[in-house]
Formats: sequence, structure tokens, C-alpha cells
Amino acid sequence: MKALVLSGGAGSRLRPFSHTTPKQLVPVAGKPVLFHALDALTAAGIDDIGLIVSEADGPVSRAVRERPGFDARVTCIAQDAPRGLAHCVLIARDFLGDDDFTMYLGDNIFQGGITDTLDAFRARRPTAQLAVRKVTDPGSYGIAELDAEGRVIALQEKPEHPRSDLAITGAYVFTSEIHEAVRAIGPSARGELEITDAVQWLVSRGRTVTAHHFSRYWADTGTLTDLLACNKVLLQALTPAVGGSVDEHSRLLGPVVVEEGATLRASVVEGPAIIGRHSTLVNCRVGPYSAVGAHCRIEASDVADSVLLDRSTVQGVGKLRGSIIGKSADIRRDSADSGCHKLLVGDNSRVFVPR
Ligand code: DAU
Repeated sequence: MKALVLSGGAGSRLRPFSHTTPKQLVPVAGKPVLFHALDALTAAGIDDIGLIVSEADGPVSRAVRERPGFDARVTCIAQDAPRGLAHCVLIARDFLGDDDFTMYLGDNIFQGGITDTLDAFRARRPTAQLAVRKVTDPGSYGIAELDAEGRVIALQEKPEHPRSDLAITGAYVFTSEIHEAVRAIGPSARGELEITDAVQWLVSRGRTVTAHHFSRYWADTGTLTDLLACNKVLLQALTPAVGGSVDEHSRLLGPVVVEEGATLRASVVEGPAIIGRHSTLVNCRVGPYSAVGAHCRIEASDVADSVLLDRSTVQGVGKLRGSIIGKSADIRRDSADSGCHKLLVGDNSRVFVPR
């Protein structure tokens, strides 16, 4: 079986990050969302992966190519514009050939991977299989209606009046019959070739489309709030490891990863938390539920429930909660101590100050 991972698209809901970092490269629990996808696929034994990207030699392809120790075969396929999920299948025709494949949305995270979903497909080999999960806000997703035997009888894409509360998650499995379907459909009202329409096309022609219920945590990391929630859940499964240096005045409580080259001086880290490569913590408290990237510096501050991207600095700011700090951002106490907030904030950023 092959995999087609979708990592194109604009990611406007993740601004300001997606201006400079494609949304699939924003880290969750210490690694980019996309790498969680790739690891779930290799864990399920798939090592021939097509990757839809918005630029052939852009940041996503480079990050995958340069990822140390990752040796699955990855074929990048450039999509000129986000023309829809079914369009991705159309342009990957040569790569996919007539093989069965899983289509995995590169901004989705499935706790514990998708091996059981793929096993369910292999056991019955329907024409197509969706992975579904009950949600409280079905109107935000593609949704599936099932019959008593669990076969899909109808699909709707982000409906105003959902007829089911089963969201279609981002792990589809297809036989080669999907190629005829994606060629047959036309663009939707929002101008995209929808995979829901292609699967509906199969259902309407009597082909067997099944649903596998994914029961663990699943997230579409579409917004910054989703991203922090997902970070929190994934960090709970952290296996502690200390590769950096922790001085005798520092303490690690609970599951903490201190990556190689990181230095802790007079600091307390309360797990679950990750301190990335070559980051420095001095006289501070970090965690729980914090993922600090590589080459960051945190000093005289108290950080929890937050994600810090690489090379960011947090110095003398007191309590920081529920925050996402972008790459190379610098947050520090003003040495002039004017009693004012002094901000240099990029486009589409959000800052919350205490009352
Ligand atoms: O997350 C599950 C949902 O994903 C499903 O319930 C919906 O049925 C499905 O349409 C999709 O909805 P989203 O609005 O969340 O899709 P989004 O535009 O965020 O795209 C999902 C991924 O696919 C993301 O990594 C970007 C990539 N993509 C998207 C489009 C439209 C591409 O690579 N090319 C594209 O043309």
C-alpha cells in the first residue's frame, strides 16, 4: 500500500505562523504536525509516500528531505493552488498507479497512529474506507451517514444542517476505483474538487464504502487553539529522557525530555514538557504541557501550557500561559521599566494582557 500525504494549501487560519512557516511544519509536542503523519505511516509499514506540496522545492519538501534518520521514499508532487482534496488524487495519478493507498491529511493528528484503520481496510478491502469520529460540531467537517451495518450511505461537506454527527477524519483508504470518481466530479460551490463528492459518487454507484470508527484522540490542527489542545494531549504520552545538562540547583518533576545540548540552571521543569536541543533555561519554571523548541532561551520566567518555536527568547516576563511563541521571537522585561507594555507585533498576531 502507498500513502498520499496532503501538505499543500494556504493555512490562513494558523496566521501569523503560516505566513512564514507552512502550517504542517508548526510543531506539536516537539515535532512538526507533518512529521507525526509521516511517522504514523512508517509505523503502519508504509514506506512509499507521495507528498502534495505547494512548492516543489519549498520549505515542506526541504524539511522532509533534511529530516535526520527518516528513510521512507518520499515523492513530492507540486500543486499549483489549493484546488481541493480530490484534485490532489488527480495530480498524483502517476505516483499512485493502480495501488491501494491511504490519503492522509497532513494537518491531522491521530493519537497512536492509524495502523488499526489500515488493518480494518485490509481485512475487508472495500472500494473505499473512511475513518470517522463522533464530534459535537459536525458542521465544521465532512460528515458520513451510515446504515445499520456500518456502510456509508451518504456524505456531506461542512453542512449547514448535518444529518449525522460522524466527522470524516483525515485518514481515507482507497482502491484504484477512486481515480474514476475524481475524474467524474466537478468543482463544489467553494470552487474545489471535494473528496466527499468523489466518495459520494462511488456510494451512489453502489460501490462498498465502509467506515472505521477511530476512538482515540484525533485533531485537525486547523486553528491555534486546536494546536495547543493537541500539544497537551500528545505530551501526556511522553517518555522521559535527559540528553542535556541539568545542574544541581534544578529539578525535573514528572515526564520531562531534555534534548541533547540543552542546559538547565537553577530551574524547575514540571512534566509533561520538552526542552529542545541547545535551549537554555536559567532561573525559571517551565511546564506542565510545554514544548520548547531548539536554541530557545528562557530566563526568570514561569511558562506553562505553551509552545515555543525555535530560537525564541522569554526573559523576565513572569507568568506565561496558553501561548504560542513564533520562531526567533523575543519577549523580555523592558530594562527602562516604564510601566507600559511595549510591543513589536507582526501582522495577524494576538496579544492578551492581564487586567
Ligand atoms: O480534517 C478533516 C476534514 O478535512 C474533513 O472532515 C473534510 O471533509 C475535508 O474536506 C477536510 O476539511 P478541511 O477544511 O480541514 O481541509 P483543509 O483545507 O484544511 O485541507 C486539509 C489538508 O490538505 C491540509 O494539510 C492542506 C491540504 N490540502 C488542502 C487542499 C484544499 C492540499 O494539499 N491541497 C488542497 O487543495
